[in-house]
Amino acid sequence: MAQSALFKVDNKEIALPIIVGSENEKAIDVRNLRAETGCITYDDGYGNTGSCLSSVTYIDGEEGILRYRGYPIEQLAENSSFVETAYLIIHGELPTLEQRRQFSLALTENAAIHSGMEHLFEGFPSGAHPMAILSAMLNSLGCYYPHLATNDHQRDLENYAQTAALIISKVRTVAAYSYRASRGLPYIYPRRDLPYCENFLHMMFSEPYQPYVALPEVAAALNLFLLLHADHEQNCSTSTVRMVASSGASLFASTAAGVCALWGPLHGGANMAVIEMLKSIHAEGDDGSKFVEAAKSGTADKRLMGFGHRVYKNYDPRAKIIKKSFYSALSSLKIKDDPLLNIAMHLEEAALKDDYFLARKLYPNVDFYSGLIMRALGIPENMFTVMFAIGRMPGWIANWKETAVNPKGRIYRPRQVYTGPTKRDYLPLHQRK
Ligand code: CMC
Repeated sequence: MAQSALFKVDNKEIALPIIVGSENEKAIDVRNLRAETGCITYDDGYGNTGSCLSSVTYIDGEEGILRYRGYPIEQLAENSSFVETAYLIIHGELPTLEQRRQFSLALTENAAIHSGMEHLFEGFPSGAHPMAILSAMLNSLGCYYPHLATNDHQRDLENYAQTAALIISKVRTVAAYSYRASRGLPYIYPRRDLPYCENFLHMMFSEPYQPYVALPEVAAALNLFLLLHADHEQNCSTSTVRMVASSGASLFASTAAGVCALWGPLHGGANMAVIEMLKSIHAEGDDGSKFVEAAKSGTADKRLMGFGHRVYKNYDPRAKIIKKSFYSALSSLKIKDDPLLNIAMHLEEAALKDDYFLARKLYPNVDFYSGLIMRALGIPENMFTVMFAIGRMPGWIANWKETAVNPKGRIYRPRQVYTGPTKRDYLPLHQRK
């Protein structure tokens, strides 16, 4: 029998249906609430609001579970690659051998960017943040493929597989070029013979006079980093992608908006903020103890970055995997005695036994160790969030598709509770105080 929730508003009782997901999570369907009662729901920050039905990613934050298309993150991290996982997220199933070959081929063939776009990069001042460049360039990319960016969902969906492969491939080239442009360095073209991560590192770090050859451990760590970031259900950037897509906008425009939403320090920018925090703790000669005390004030400027999560009230499963791989990367790269690492370990230890953090269920999230791992791989700090964006692209693409294919999809348009002045009459200028 279908379940329902009873609501009583102004002595009127209504039954609202309960929707049950495939993992038995429940949602009260309030779509008729306003029509039947005149009330809307108020949910600052959307902590209790399900904005869509989705079959891409499942998270159980209390248990620390994360699955892409049903597959546990631990199994994918152990056995899969970023490219294969991207295919899984974008198309819903793990690829066959032939599908994986075709997808890799499409990535190789789409790696270069139009030479006209190179001139666009030149318009940015050196020192411009690569996230700003990345967002602008992803949007501009649509101008070079107008037949894939029609802003007509039916037509854009006909080319979904092609557009998805194009964006997954080109975001890496655009990201590397953003870095080179921000440093005033010459662009390095992609190579056909290199796999996804090695090709990215080549475009970042090779010089016209000297090729960069990635150590296998570095490429493997990058691969894992991207895989762990590939999707994370309705976070700020993915919801932004869906919001923009709901107006009918193309995959290029929607993912460019996702990059902007990701940039902030409470979301993807946290990986950079963690390193800045560790550096400032180090500069002050603190071992982390004073900072942990100050973080308990709860003020935004003193937060322990890389700690806490809206959904996880347990150890973020991605943080567990990344922490383990971090230590093996450090020993393969023969990196010893990073003072920031010592502070990070001390911070984690101190916070995990402190009542403030325990009571609020604040555990390390993926960003706590991801900044440190990228630092160890030689990725420049201002590229950390760009790396997150490359990784998150499959999730954004899959969520765009779910929005675009929904025949009953409505434009995202929340309501508000107005708290401004009530009606008042216009005052001519000379009467105003
Ligand atoms: N340090 C100290 N106190 C914290 C922290 C923190 N990192 N995070 C939350 N709190 C406190 C907060 O002050 C509040 O305390 P009280 O109940 O006394 O008012 C309580 O914990 C609940 O916090 P909240 O702000 O209601 O939690 P939220 O779900 O709105 O925010 C968050 C989630 C991730 C934005 C927040 O935990 C935070 O700012 N963390 C640091 C930034 C960070 O690491 N972000 C990356 C998130 S993971 C990657 C991603 O998915 O984007």
